[in-house]
Amino acid sequence: MSLERIQDNLRHLRLYRIQDRLETALEEAAKNNVSYTEFLDEILSQEVASKQEKNISVRTSMAKFPYVKTLETFDFAFQPSIDKKRIKELAECRFVPNGENVVFLGPPGVGKTHLAVALGVKAVTEGYRTYFTQAMPLIASLTKAYAENRIEERLKFYCQPKLLIIDEIGYIPIDRHGAHLFFQLISRRYEKGALILTSNRSFSQWNEIFGDPVIATAILDRILHHSATINIKGNSYRLREKVKAGLIKEPDVEES
Ligand SMILES: Nc1ncnc2c1ncn2[C@@H]1O[C@H](COP(=O)(O)OP(=O)(O)O)[C@@H](O)[C@H]1O
Ligand SMILES: [Mg+2]
Repeated sequence: MSLERIQDNLRHLRLYRIQDRLETALEEAAKNNVSYTEFLDEILSQEVASKQEKNISVRTSMAKFPYVKTLETFDFAFQPSIDKKRIKELAECRFVPNGENVVFLGPPGVGKTHLAVALGVKAVTEGYRTYFTQAMPLIASLTKAYAENRIEERLKFYCQPKLLIIDEIGYIPIDRHGAHLFFQLISRRYEKGALILTSNRSFSQWNEIFGDPVIATAILDRILHHSATINIKGNSYRLREKVKAGLIKEPDVEES
């Protein structure tokens, strides 16, 4: 029977969405007098949409985001030091193919990771391979790979994604060797792949993070050459939630 053969061929071609929908789609088309062109257009569009959705979800899980959050759930009113227009512009993701960098600076809880992830999610939706890591595990993994003579392979791994997000630079100081490996990664990606970095330390304090002012300067030089820095000055959103729940009192935070 030809319907069976169609189903087999659809499976063979991996057109699973059409395969699922075929019988219903055929019935509806017959009932509504749909033209061949319209019919083909409709079922192919559905297949493409379903494949795109699948790609996005695969890339999202490959990105290893700590959580999936978007700009839509970010309360810009709570953080007036952030220029919403600038973030929206970054969310168009032109910085990704251009190999440019975005740095979020600010104290804990002001939304650095949230915004980094939200831009990462946008990049994934736009089709860019993205990878999220915190600075400490990144350095640990480079150091381990170096000790095991696999540093080349590891650097390649971190250079593959079009967008690499390195969260929480500066929470813990990095030793000299780690700083040197980090510098190698940054110079390899320089002008080739985009970075999003977050840190609770201002750039002038990066000497302390990397222990060595020469390496710190070299790292900053490459990161900042093509970059946008978003300095967030404001209250912690985490604290605000605790204040609201009545767990703590914080005079600086207004109840809304
Ligand atoms: N302006 C905001 N609107 C909505 N949620 C926010 C906002 N700022 C922070 N959050 C939420 O508060 C928590 C802490 O934010 P996070 O981005 O992890 O802070 P940081 O990385 O700066 O320490 C997260 O759950 C985040 O989604
Ligand atoms: Mg964070």
